[in-house]
Amino acid sequence: MSQEEPKITRAAYASKKGEIALREHEYDGIQEYDQLLPNWWLFIFFAFTFFFFAYWIIYYQFGLTRTDVERLEDRLAVINEAKAAALEELLANLDDDVLVTQLATDPEQLAVGHQVYTTHCLACHGADLHARISIGDGQFVNLPGRSLMDGEWEYGDTPMDIFRIINDGSPPGSSGFNGALMEAFGQRLPPTDIAAVTAYILRENAEQFDVPEISGP
Ligand code: HEC
Repeated sequence: MSQEEPKITRAAYASKKGEIALREHEYDGIQEYDQLLPNWWLFIFFAFTFFFFAYWIIYYQFGLTRTDVERLEDRLAVINEAKAAALEELLANLDDDVLVTQLATDPEQLAVGHQVYTTHCLACHGADLHARISIGDGQFVNLPGRSLMDGEWEYGDTPMDIFRIINDGSPPGSSGFNGALMEAFGQRLPPTDIAAVTAYILRENAEQFDVPEISGP
């Protein structure tokens, strides 16, 4: 390039003449075009660079917005509060007597309880509540849960004790049954379902808990 020529880039000079300019270096026989990236490409590149930088400052440096974890925790807190309130409301009107004489004699409650049992409990406590499954020829295989028909209750034998073990699960520190623990179903099911399934278990053990006969029309 002589000194009289105006200073323009090699690429601009070449494209003016309808040529393609190559950069000087060459590696492994590969050469590069000496061209500007298109503006639309550059626009996206800088826009995203700026976006990232702003995001990094706002989100990570100053914590001006709330993180997903914080939002999740807030929502869980609201849900847990509502659940605790629902449990408290139910417990205010629930005692041994209500469970035995009202819920365990109410066909509607028993139907709900049976449904809950079939969906959530049967796998470990068995269809006949004996915590076993028949494999024919009068033989049985034991399931992980305790029998709910043997008249023995590991964690207390009042109706409310049974409600509690279902709602709260095995007490902290308990070694369980053959190493298996009972899950806290209060985490998963509404307290009304726990009460209904308790009523269903009481009905199945009607003799032990003196559950009155259902007097129907
Ligand atoms: C994954 C298996 C499993 C499921 C599902 C399960 N349980 Fe249990 N359950 C157990 C085990 C194991 C124990 C014994 C826990 C212990 O001893 O600490 C137990 C104990 C109990 C007890 C105390 C029994 C006793 O003899 O003291 C009751 C009542 C009970 N479960 C009811 C239920 C109900 C109602 C459901 C359904 C809502 C249910 N369980 C679902 C495994 C299960």
